[in-house]
Amino acid sequence: MKKIIINGGKPLKGEVSVSGAKNSVVALIPAAILADDVVVLDGVPNISDVDSLVDIMETMGAKVVHSGETLEIDPRSVQNIPVPYDKISRLRASYYFYGSLLGRFGQAVVGLPGGCDLGPRPIDLHLKAFEAMGADVSYEGESMHLTTPHQTIYGAHIYMDTVSVGATINTMIAAVKAQGRTVIENAAREPEIIDVATLLNNMGARIRGAGTDVITVDGVEKLHGTRHQVIPDRIEAGTYIALAAAAGEGVHIKNVLYEHLESYIAKLEEMGVRMTIEEDAIYVEKQSSLRAVSVKTSPYPGFATDLQQPLTPLLISAEGQGTIVDTIYEKRINHVPELAKMGAAISADKNRITYQGPSHLRGRAVKATDLRAGAALVIAGLMADGQTQISNVEFILRGYSNIIEKLSALGADIHLVTD
Ligand code: UD1
Repeated sequence: MKKIIINGGKPLKGEVSVSGAKNSVVALIPAAILADDVVVLDGVPNISDVDSLVDIMETMGAKVVHSGETLEIDPRSVQNIPVPYDKISRLRASYYFYGSLLGRFGQAVVGLPGGCDLGPRPIDLHLKAFEAMGADVSYEGESMHLTTPHQTIYGAHIYMDTVSVGATINTMIAAVKAQGRTVIENAAREPEIIDVATLLNNMGARIRGAGTDVITVDGVEKLHGTRHQVIPDRIEAGTYIALAAAAGEGVHIKNVLYEHLESYIAKLEEMGVRMTIEEDAIYVEKQSSLRAVSVKTSPYPGFATDLQQPLTPLLISAEGQGTIVDTIYEKRINHVPELAKMGAAISADKNRITYQGPSHLRGRAVKATDLRAGAALVIAGLMADGQTQISNVEFILRGYSNIIEKLSALGADIHLVTD
């Protein structure tokens, strides 16, 4: 078991560079299965979700060379073998193997996905889309069986009942080699969807409309290899902006696409956070007094649910009262009792969090219950007086590239220890 130990109250200064987007790369890797040649991804973050996906790809027979931030994937020897539950259940995004195996082989047997416990996280929209494209879906034990009568799927008109990032990307991945045209309506518009469409189009796919709520995919027979730069991780960027505002004395955050963070930056400006927006960087100054604000999450371009938890420690340091309502995940409140343990005046009722600031945090032993709750606790630990010990940090390492090294370089007293 690993723990993160933080001796708080150290001023953070200097530069930090944002890595490639986790939520893109976890789809780009399975999407590479569709190519008839090598796919090279640059800007791959150093996170355990990538290691888990590489392990799954290698189990299926792909040849993968991982060197620094570059991943070379040769999918030509991939076999359509059942992908074991214990590997698939390590992360939620393993559901992208449903779309990519269905697209390449017209059938798949894959374990059920895992991931952070944020309340019910169904995959019915993914399965409904595959069914509309001609696949039969059945469960046997802990595996999902997707079969087609003629080992091929067909383009279809699909309306997503709920705006879903995963279902939009998965349908797009399955559709690129389907026979005919697929139209996805009420599609999600997150930047990661555009990134996956860019990779697929550079492999020879014909996708139009990614980034809007109607995506059209004309199926092609073959996809070739390509080289692709992963977009910067907007959630990691937002996390560093929050921690720079909470505990910084001048932090330059590099490799940031401001356009992906507009609703988040608007909220910070409403709080009075002083920042300078540059072409591909944001400079966050030392803050004096901040105002409490209320936050409501919604699909992109609204305020990202993934940034609600990392922003909470900054919110509770501000003057006044506010609420945070998560409309996407009803149980994304697991950071609240841990922050309360550290002295925050904060409580949650269902998906509604209420806080009264400013709270002064004290270091405690706390537990990361999911990835972004873990990020919130790291920020709280950096702000707090005394020592914070965070357990369950495997969640944090799943999604934040080199977090200990990056924070140490900014002057944080932070260590990863193994019990
Ligand atoms: C992705 C992100 C996650 C982020 C979330 C919302 C990845 C790997 N993860 O997760 O970090 O928090 O988007 O921005 O990209 N839903 C259904 N049926 C489905 C699918 C989803 O009802 O088949 C519901 C979910 O329960 C949720 C909402 O739709 O309430 C949005 O979920 P979705 O966008 O699919 O989340 P993920 O793609 O799993």
